[in-house]
Amino acid sequence: MATKKIVGIALALTALVGACGTGEDNGDRPATTAPASSSTTEPANSDGPDAETLAATPPMGWNSWNQVRCYDLNEDVVKRAADAIVRHGLDDLGYRYVVVDDCWQAPERNSEGALVPDPERFSSGLADLADYIHDKGLRFGLYLSPGSETCAMQWDDYPATGLGSLGHERQDAEMLADIGVDYLKYDWCGADEVDGLEPETAFAHMRDELKRLDRPIVYSISEYGRNEPWKWAPGIANMWRTTSDILPMWASIATIINSQADLHPYAEPGSWNDPDMLQVGNGPLTDVEARSHVGMWAMLAAPLMIGTDLDKVTPGVLAALSNPEVIAIDQDPLGRQARRVRDDAGVQVWVRPLSDGEFAVALLNGGDAPTRVDTDLAEVGIDPGRWKVRDVWAQADGGVVDGALGADLEPHAMALFRLSPM
Ligand code: GLA
Repeated sequence: MATKKIVGIALALTALVGACGTGEDNGDRPATTAPASSSTTEPANSDGPDAETLAATPPMGWNSWNQVRCYDLNEDVVKRAADAIVRHGLDDLGYRYVVVDDCWQAPERNSEGALVPDPERFSSGLADLADYIHDKGLRFGLYLSPGSETCAMQWDDYPATGLGSLGHERQDAEMLADIGVDYLKYDWCGADEVDGLEPETAFAHMRDELKRLDRPIVYSISEYGRNEPWKWAPGIANMWRTTSDILPMWASIATIINSQADLHPYAEPGSWNDPDMLQVGNGPLTDVEARSHVGMWAMLAAPLMIGTDLDKVTPGVLAALSNPEVIAIDQDPLGRQARRVRDDAGVQVWVRPLSDGEFAVALLNGGDAPTRVDTDLAEVGIDPGRWKVRDVWAQADGGVVDGALGADLEPHAMALFRLSPM
């Protein structure tokens, strides 16, 4: 059990020596990182769905893909996930969106050109499923693609034709409103190569169709980070994928964490970098790795979309998903993403400014041997002075720090601190 080691924080109450950082940017957005598209001189997502209320903090919920992928998707799986979210009290923690990913569709559009759900696996229909989810106080999400094909048609041999929204954008958007959809995942799936589409234009097209609807719909887009969407998507979508697909293994999680180090200037309320959905509970991930996965996603102000079977979830995985103080960091209303201040052969230090002048500091041992990680206020760019420290995973006060803080970390473990000014 790693908890004891992680919790064994040594809060060295050392005085700071030398000049302390005055917030060497503390995550401040440099002027040079203003998003590139013309619409983005306005507040984030100002011409997208209502940014005041929609995705003001990173969306949280469950998505079918990492749990059942394609052919095992059906309405019972989705209903059971909704039931389990409520049973485990995850809804009270903010997990709210229940998203049906690819493979919900029947193999062809109907004679009116409308998408229809697979008649066997979704025999009750999507409006019925949306009602079921809404009756639980949850919100309903659905998957579409901008080209002519969905990804499962390409990579899972899903035997279908014409399931993409190309040429059906308005019809498909109106379908979302008719069903009662609250969240759209709009997934690229090679629409440049297959259909000659350009990502910014295609994603903006659906943004405009969603805007016509009398229904706020969180707009989640994905082109896997290939065209630096953080530079143009803030005026278009509420969240944009920054990576290729996450796999249920530490190497994939570590690669994604490393690829997020420079993206902190682009996240803000209403528009978020999306390093892909959670894999905790899947594959060979240990409880230690599950904690680091969720904890680092919280530092990254990432959407938290569970992708495991919540009927079979272990206490360790549930604990990683449901620590209210970790979630509070993810959902901090200031909406600033962490920046990395050290990467020394996988041993990393990250800092995230929080509202009310607080900070979150993460120490991550990405290496394969136990190690001690120490940092200090100067390294993380926090002003000198006395700070109250909270061990976030342990939900325990850690005393007062006026200099250094550190932790003994086993491989792939993280320590997470919240610093409050005194
Ligand atoms: C892509 C996406 C995944 C999932 C599948 C569905 O691979 O990145 O998250 O939506 O498509 O086919």
